[in-house]
Amino acid sequence: MFLYRVKQFLWYLNGKITEKDLKYIESKLNNNEIILFRKLAINEQKHCINVAMDLEKICCSKKINSYELIKVALLHDIGKIDVRLSIIDKSILVILDYLSKGRIRKFNSINKINVYYNHGEKGANILKKYGYNERFLYLIRNHHNSNIKEDEELNLIKYCDNKN
Ligand SMILES: [Fe+2]
Ligand SMILES: [Fe+2]
Repeated sequence: MFLYRVKQFLWYLNGKITEKDLKYIESKLNNNEIILFRKLAINEQKHCINVAMDLEKICCSKKINSYELIKVALLHDIGKIDVRLSIIDKSILVILDYLSKGRIRKFNSINKINVYYNHGEKGANILKKYGYNERFLYLIRNHHNSNIKEDEELNLIKYCDNKN
């Protein structure tokens, strides 16, 4: 699993935001959301666009209303805007998480470790100020919470997140 993760990060090393990506973002987000979104590192923007596109396809095939969910997908990692994790940082954190069985989580006074584990909560806190509803914030906050299993929308987001 963790080797797959490392490989995933390497895919994003050369990530660029294309015209098509920009059009996609502009069609799904309002101006304030675009400003926020563009604060993410390029590789994170690319990741979020891929998550949103996958999610949209699944919603289409299952006839699920995707308007809010696509916004959630695009903004799900917004908790990473203040502390940037490079591809190398992430690869190291994935390995340390694996080797320590998640015990490095307690070193959350280190910014990068904190953001790696807690960016869902951070993201929800950032978005709270913009007046999103509780459900929207809940999905952002819990997108890495493995204790919640029975939430179909959350599971969809987790699935598309893990794929990308
Ligand atoms: Fe995340
Ligand atoms: Fe993500």
